[in-house]
Amino acid sequence: MGMQSKYIWMNGELVPFEKATIHFLTPALHYGVAVFEGIRSYNTDKGPAVFRLKEHAQRLIRSAEVLGFRTLPWTWEEVAEAIKDTVRINEFADCYIRPVIYLDGGGWNLNIDNGKPSLAIAVWEWANYLGEEALEKGVRANISSFTRHHPNVMMTKAKISGNYANSALAKTESARLGFDEAIMLDPQGYVAECTGENLFVVRDGRIFTPPTVTVLEGITRDAIITIAHDLGYEVHERPISRDQLYTADEVFVCGTAAECIALCEIDFRRIGSGKTGPITRSIQRVFYQAVRGKLPQYESWCAYVNPPLSSSLDQTTSVASLGASS
Ligand SMILES: Cc1ncc(COP(=O)(O)O)c(C=O)c1O
Repeated sequence: MGMQSKYIWMNGELVPFEKATIHFLTPALHYGVAVFEGIRSYNTDKGPAVFRLKEHAQRLIRSAEVLGFRTLPWTWEEVAEAIKDTVRINEFADCYIRPVIYLDGGGWNLNIDNGKPSLAIAVWEWANYLGEEALEKGVRANISSFTRHHPNVMMTKAKISGNYANSALAKTESARLGFDEAIMLDPQGYVAECTGENLFVVRDGRIFTPPTVTVLEGITRDAIITIAHDLGYEVHERPISRDQLYTADEVFVCGTAAECIALCEIDFRRIGSGKTGPITRSIQRVFYQAVRGKLPQYESWCAYVNPPLSSSLDQTTSVASLGASS
């Protein structure tokens, strides 16, 4: 995987990749006062389509507001357009999209009101976040020795860059122990989420997922819940204990980078059959078709980057219905 692209969008300009740099004295680098999104664009029959663009652009703005930015010079609609421009000009078939709003100048006394926000958007090719064989075989996870943030310590609904030091501690520990991903417990000891994914448990044909109090309200999580309901499964939000993971029939995780992947082993205990289970498989099948615009039922989740070839493809209808489908 290379992160190279032709252009990076910086405060309204498409800057050649090599020139897209920021100064060492950018407060975001020193204090983690930035917010970001992780988004994917998939190749479809109608060209690249950004998955759930509206929700991601809105969450970026909300994250910035949670961090404390009071006035931002962009609306979510403008952010969404800038994302489309960046995807279009870089001409990748599939790509990962990384917009960041960061404190740029001022704010050295840790007061965000004394700084100003900047926005930059990069794209790159990024397949298989959890490895080549993850989709087929699932991955191995451990319970992290690091606890997920208490929501009054770090704001877990916001993708604040500084929050991710917590994920980096857990992920690095997990990798050094020989696992693929870490599951983090919340301060009360219940299952929260992984370092960059939400988590689902399957037991006796029903699906469970932790409530959103301490976790990021994942946009993939929302899509998975919709798909699971549409497939006829019950989905319950309720606290999950560590040993309920061990005794599950299936466990899977989901997120923009990881997509939808089974956990075949947790803490050296085999989960279910030790392979991707049937319910995970059925949800994966729908999810991977939906993101590529292959299922009319979920097409409103796809924001096409190129203008429609004929007026019969009315993009405004598609974008307007994005919210309704969540
Ligand atoms: C901590 C955490 N939880 C869950 C997710 C999944 O969120 P989404 O599906 O919106 O990418 C992510 C990824 O953004 C994350 O960083």
